[in-house]
Amino acid sequence: MWNRAKFIFAIVTIGLCLSANPSLAQQAASQVSKAEHAHSKAQDPWWKQAVIYEIYPRSFQDSNGDGVGDINGITSRLDYLRDLGIDAIWISPMYPSPLVDFGYDISDYTAIDPLYGSLADFDRLVSEAKKRGIRVIMDFVPNHTSDQHPWFAESRSSRTVPKRDWYIWRDGKGPGQPPNNWQSWFGHSAWKFDPTTNQYYYHHFYTEQPDLNWRNPQVRKAMYDAMRFWLDRGVAGFRIDAVSRLFEDPDLHDDPILPGKNAYGDPNIAHKYTDNLPEVHEVLREMRKVVNEYPGNPVLISEADEPNIAELTKMYGGKDDEVQLPMDFQIADVNKRSAPEFRRLLNEIDKNAAGGQPHYFFSNHDQVRQWDRYGDGVHNDQIAKLIAALLLTTRATPLMYYGEEIGMRTTDPVRKEDVQDPIGKIGWPEEKGRDGERTPMQWDASKNAGFSAAQRPWLPVPPSSTEYNVKAESKDPNSILSFYKRLLALRQSKPALRDGLYLPLIGEDPYVLAYLRKKPNNSDVILVVLNMSAEPRTVKFDLAAEGIGDSSAKPLIASPEMGHDSTLLSHFTIPEFGVFIGSVH
Ligand code: GLC
Repeated sequence: MWNRAKFIFAIVTIGLCLSANPSLAQQAASQVSKAEHAHSKAQDPWWKQAVIYEIYPRSFQDSNGDGVGDINGITSRLDYLRDLGIDAIWISPMYPSPLVDFGYDISDYTAIDPLYGSLADFDRLVSEAKKRGIRVIMDFVPNHTSDQHPWFAESRSSRTVPKRDWYIWRDGKGPGQPPNNWQSWFGHSAWKFDPTTNQYYYHHFYTEQPDLNWRNPQVRKAMYDAMRFWLDRGVAGFRIDAVSRLFEDPDLHDDPILPGKNAYGDPNIAHKYTDNLPEVHEVLREMRKVVNEYPGNPVLISEADEPNIAELTKMYGGKDDEVQLPMDFQIADVNKRSAPEFRRLLNEIDKNAAGGQPHYFFSNHDQVRQWDRYGDGVHNDQIAKLIAALLLTTRATPLMYYGEEIGMRTTDPVRKEDVQDPIGKIGWPEEKGRDGERTPMQWDASKNAGFSAAQRPWLPVPPSSTEYNVKAESKDPNSILSFYKRLLALRQSKPALRDGLYLPLIGEDPYVLAYLRKKPNNSDVILVVLNMSAEPRTVKFDLAAEGIGDSSAKPLIASPEMGHDSTLLSHFTIPEFGVFIGSVH
């Protein structure tokens, strides 16, 4: 931890003044903030002040030259992650899998796929990460197994075997007719006929991903035991995959049909009877009890693209007894640089009725990267910094996706025959699949961007890697990476940013999003001003009501055009797509 603090504070202090002497800055800063940090951390569970970083293991670092990333590759990059300033990694699935859905189709919940290494490699990763103050969060996929899982092999073998009821089996409506109109999220009917027993099984995702029957207590027990297996090995919690899809209407009502067709050519449908059924919460409460059996506050993160904040809020549970961090897809999917829209959502989630900790992100392995979604095609790098500032200064546990810190962009396949992700094959050309956001991490400008020594990595390395890579950006004080490092370090060093209150400002402004983060008695107050528009804007802040006497704000991190001097609150001009994070008293 000491090394980490030393590095972090060097970065903060350098801030705008990049020529400062880092060794002096390190010494002074590490003394003040270590105490502050320790105090604040003592009051909160670790995940409240953590920054979490998602790793897609196939694409982070290949250590054995087979073109696919692996566990030892991740371990070899832990120093990078520590120096970046993140506190926990969530790793997408590494369990044995036929890899139809690249690991989200699991054939054994308590082992590691040899492609990624061994359990011993995993244990070493956890222990090396711990030495660097980094926790490891597993991906857990409860909704479905692989069709190659021994449970399913037994289940499909006969109508009378004990595991028959571990999955959802139903008769068709008639010859060649599935039980009802439910559709797979990945296209076409959600029912697959199995000739061995002349029944259909239900699969919310690919046909090779049969849904488990969560109404069966034996299924629950088996899955909770799998969670304990990893908790016993020291993991810090789970990101729970597709959790809202755990239950389906037992009476098999048809889902309502909506106008139009989707990318797979099927009629649009509302997943009314297969998504968000109330029993989901019963399971979440049980999962929470499982993690609560362990010391160290293991965390549950839910993946559920809830339709609104009210539904999202339910994920926390009535008595803080479900998920600590429900991923907020509302914020992730604003998909426009709209100050009013962000303000509305931030305000709403900040006041959520459960008093739950917000959990924001912009990119992941299923989404087009934020560089592309929020960029305007001209100022994308500046906008990448703007979105980073939003993610890392709001009151939330932020979740990053590997490569966003270097401005990685989505690089879709251009030919159908190159597509790896099956949904890209089913939906081509309208749906190109998710390969574009899963390309190899760009470490340097050498062969395969330093990701792999293989002739051909599993996905091609984007051409942008010659310019956008860790090595080149580490040397450039104005790079996206340097900006992220400064931000993460500032967040680490400032109690107001870590867990201070969130107070929205200038409530009506159409272009500028601004807020205060502050600790009680104004012991630490940070003003954040983000210009979401392509024009410079001038706004006015009156902070007297907040007990702020200063007439200007002192920059800690700000767009270069704003200079190093304090900015007047009564006439606050911020450049196009500008960022200002400063202190006020
Ligand atoms: C989740 C995962 C996604 C996967 C799906 C089915 O949405 O994030 O990658 O394809 O679940 O398991």
